[in-house]
Amino acid sequence: MLASGSFDGQVAVITGGGSGMGRAMAEEFARLGAAVVVAGRRPEPLAETVGAIEDAGGRALAQPTDVRVPDQVDALVAAAVERFGRVDVLVNDAAGNFVVKAEDLSPNGWRAVTSIVLDGGFLCARAAGRQMIAQGDGGAILSVIASYAWTGGPGTVHSAAAKAGLLAMTRTLAVEWAPHRIRVNTICPGPTATEGAGAALWPTPADEARVAATVPAGRLASVEEIAWWSTALCSRYAAYVTGENLTIDGGHWLEQEGYMPALRPPAP
Ligand code: HXC
Repeated sequence: MLASGSFDGQVAVITGGGSGMGRAMAEEFARLGAAVVVAGRRPEPLAETVGAIEDAGGRALAQPTDVRVPDQVDALVAAAVERFGRVDVLVNDAAGNFVVKAEDLSPNGWRAVTSIVLDGGFLCARAAGRQMIAQGDGGAILSVIASYAWTGGPGTVHSAAAKAGLLAMTRTLAVEWAPHRIRVNTICPGPTATEGAGAALWPTPADEARVAATVPAGRLASVEEIAWWSTALCSRYAAYVTGENLTIDGGHWLEQEGYMPALRPPAP
């Protein structure tokens, strides 16, 4: 956990900031001194995040945004600049997901997920990157991916393909924008206890227990555990880290069971 004041004078834009991991990140950036702009489609959760930040003495703005719509994304960055004067950090946290067999996935379902995750991630990076380039003193862009970006994700072909695209985008922009001192990284949370992920991927307690049992650490991550490393990667302590991914998953993606099944917790 960074010291409070680590982001004094900085402005962080967080998509998906109304709930779950994005809200925890927004609250942590604000605790560390950043003014925070939260974006998402539904105004009510954004207002709740802003209320929580302001109650704790921080500064925040809610900007309802569909990250798939270029004009709305440009308006998001413009709103951050108008209210707080600049943009130093962008977190691409907005996502959509559901479990479906690939052969049953409609073109619209494919588009719904890939356009939120990949189109939205690029549009937000482009808008924030343009602002950071114009400011001339660097910045940090962080996108949230999943380990199925490199392992493949049976049942989530849309999300796996889009997250893989975000990883490639990140490595590309890390090089293109290094001369502008804009760092571009990803974090890869494992299964994390949020309402959105739970509803989409482990809707019943039995499903959740089954997922937790596949994590060598034996549990889901908390949103705070993800938020601490998100702020760290965007901070000055990571000034020489770019094009990198940090996996925070309790060993989940490395779990192969292998020759020692007794290592696993008993099935629920
Ligand atoms: C099959 C489905 C479906 C489902 C939607 N669709 N849900 N198909 N099974 N469960 C199809 C619809 O039938 C429709 O296609 C198309 O997708 C678009 O649906 P809409 O509801 O109109 O789209 P939209 O309102 O844009 O909603 C997008 C969404 C939604 C992705 C479908 O779930 C959403 O906004 N979710 C946001 C929150 C979320 O999912 N968070 C979880 C992220 S967790 P047709 O052909 O019928 O028109 C995460 C963690 C991963 O990503 C990593 C874990 C380790």
